[in-house]
Amino acid sequence: MVPLKRRKVVGNYTGAGHGGDNSPTKFPDVLLFLLERKMGASRRAFLSQLGRKKGFHVEELFSESVTHVISENNSGYEVRTWLDSQRRAQGQMMAHLLDISWYTESMRAGHPVPILERHKLQEQHNDEGEAVVFSVPSFACQRRITLDNHNTIITGALSLLAENAELSEEDGRGVAFRRAAAVLKALPEPVTCMTQLRGLPCLGEHSLRVIKDILENGESNEVESMKQSERYKALKVLTGVFGVGAKTADRWIREGIHTLHQLRDSGHALNRAQQAGVEHYDDLNQPVSMAEADAVGEIVEKAVVSVLPGAQITLTGGFRRGKPSGHDVDFLITHPEEGREEGLMSKVVSWLESQGFLLYHKTSRNSYLESANGPARPASNMDRFERCFSIFKLAKKYHELGKDAGPEETKPAGHKPWRAVRVDLVVSPISQFAFALLGWTGSKLFERELRRWAGQEKAMSLSSHALFDNKQKRYLTATSEEEIFGHLGLEFIPPSERNA
Ligand code: UTP
Ligand code: MN
Repeated sequence: MVPLKRRKVVGNYTGAGHGGDNSPTKFPDVLLFLLERKMGASRRAFLSQLGRKKGFHVEELFSESVTHVISENNSGYEVRTWLDSQRRAQGQMMAHLLDISWYTESMRAGHPVPILERHKLQEQHNDEGEAVVFSVPSFACQRRITLDNHNTIITGALSLLAENAELSEEDGRGVAFRRAAAVLKALPEPVTCMTQLRGLPCLGEHSLRVIKDILENGESNEVESMKQSERYKALKVLTGVFGVGAKTADRWIREGIHTLHQLRDSGHALNRAQQAGVEHYDDLNQPVSMAEADAVGEIVEKAVVSVLPGAQITLTGGFRRGKPSGHDVDFLITHPEEGREEGLMSKVVSWLESQGFLLYHKTSRNSYLESANGPARPASNMDRFERCFSIFKLAKKYHELGKDAGPEETKPAGHKPWRAVRVDLVVSPISQFAFALLGWTGSKLFERELRRWAGQEKAMSLSSHALFDNKQKRYLTATSEEEIFGHLGLEFIPPSERNA
């Protein structure tokens, strides 16, 4: 800690201005200031007078030369906030922030007593003894959030609560927990006490309670018991089936279906997606690695270039943000000449199918039409590109086949030489490419916050197709993500820092 700035002592007498008291200041290096906030004016006057009688220098007004700030019933954060509002100079103020107990003990002792931990106002201190005051902007799209998360236990708990809320179709609560988690992900170091969180955005009562529990007990009771609950476990298993959403899972659970066995035995008719989901359940619930994503990328590239030379593919989603694994692989396909991308998806899919790469696919058509009056509905989550949800049959690399992998005929049963991988393909015309790239890179919360920022702060509607300025009543075009951030008045955040 930087030593306290020593006050230049001009004279040994404080003068008559300080309560008409002429006693000498016995401790020239100690310049006290009592905060009136919560103490009240009369108690402050009484305590100041008492101090001066004992030879302490007690200042009437706060100044930069004060060495000890004394307060009663205030938190370190409250005092720090008050002081910051009083100070003209920027930078760290070095005065001790002390509780009234230090003052009364010093009065009793007749001299400044050594400052003990219990005298210090609770501010977060690290090894250097410097106060850590976190500050995080309100919108996640204003923050740089890398994968380097210093609060994984807390964010893990909040994300589980978010997931549970989403699985229970309580999207509002889900978003609240996601936002809270995204604030914690933005902190430069681990949280160690609640006072550090004062003044941070998006931390509701419920999230704060969970965090407090974790700081005090190492885990959250609520989260632990949720994880153990039959309902949560069943929701996880059933929505783990590709093609099964929260609504369907909830209906099955109410019928007493909690496991895949019970689902099979129930005789429920499954749609094509769900059948594939059950068939490839284990593969699809095993994270996709970066190497596998690259392997899929090579196949898609080959398909795209074979059916339309000059077309380009871009890896999006979590892998573009630098995640080492994901639940699927996302690609955006375009062609530098507007219109050449039309009909591309069906050709790509046919090529992949003919080569035996597809275990499942479902294509939806592009239904996006720009209208002169702006988007028909507010920019929504669902976009309307030509899109293909698919499951790839990806050959395993030799080393992934297991220790006992050998020539095909000697391979033990159960060691199939391929695995199923979820792949999302999206085709965009080049004029919308920047918006599509931004929209498909995620994270989901980052996207949601971008759209909220656009609407609330800029009166604009952002989607994966376009940006509409509601004041100018016109579309703002862009050929790069940087340009879109520029239109939105935001600092550019690269993909690796969009991990909100
Ligand atoms: P994903 O669900 O694939 O998430 O959506 P992810 O970030 O890649 O993470 P994992 O590892 O696969 O789980 C990728 C992006 O695509 C957008 C989402 O907003 C997300 O940012 N997206 C997804 C859409 O715009 N529309 C959709 O229908 C689905
Ligand atoms: Mn993805």
